[in-house]
Amino acid sequence: MNNKKLIAGNWKMNGGLAANAALLNALNEAVGARALCDIAVAVPAPYLSQVQQLLANSPIALAAQDVSAHESGAYTGEMSAAMLKEFGTRYVLVGHSERRQYHGETDAVVGAKAQRALAAGITPIVCVGETLAEREDGKTEAVVKRQLAAAIHAVTHCVSEIVVAYEPVWAIGTGKTATPEQAQQVHAVLRAQLAAASQKADVIKLLYGGSMNAANAAELLAQPDIDGGLVGGASLKPADFLQIISAAQ
Ligand code: G3H
Repeated sequence: MNNKKLIAGNWKMNGGLAANAALLNALNEAVGARALCDIAVAVPAPYLSQVQQLLANSPIALAAQDVSAHESGAYTGEMSAAMLKEFGTRYVLVGHSERRQYHGETDAVVGAKAQRALAAGITPIVCVGETLAEREDGKTEAVVKRQLAAAIHAVTHCVSEIVVAYEPVWAIGTGKTATPEQAQQVHAVLRAQLAAASQKADVIKLLYGGSMNAANAAELLAQPDIDGGLVGGASLKPADFLQIISAAQ
């Protein structure tokens, strides 16, 4: 486990020029020039350039929400890792459950995306997580291990350079957070799987996501294998996001 936690906000399909500026100006002002934890915001693609400029003198890193599994070419609507890199993108989400669910992304596609990101010098945040039905069927461990195995297979030689986010699908946007014990239990499974694949598994950041908020962040972040958070709704509210950041310091 590494010391510095990572708090990544995922704006999803929210924002606008004025709202982005207001949110980031508030975060920049509160965070200052140096943050005691790593911070990132994953923004909608049309705003990468605007946010890159707003974060020019900020310790907050720019993240994208998706990347193409292909290098370049006739893939209408997609963004390559090289394009994201040109805008200073430091992280990219891959395999978010909303991409898996609404866009049919398979484990293999997610692995290919992670590989493309790393090749361009961008850290992939590989998202894994079970649905409610899978949890109720006792399949949580099998599902997350299968999802992570595909990513590990795709990035075999640089496993220690990825970030992993455990997001139980039933906790996303529902207000039903996993208990710290539930989250820690899965994180320990993921850490063990990473340790079997890399001698540097202890430096890989394992984030928890799913209704993390100002009230529950500290308890989740206190778990031994929770190295940060992937925050959706609460990342759109400066006061809430800042409280989560404070809980990570
Ligand atoms: O990427 C973030 C997750 O989907 C969590 O979203 O915090 O709104 O539940 P949420």
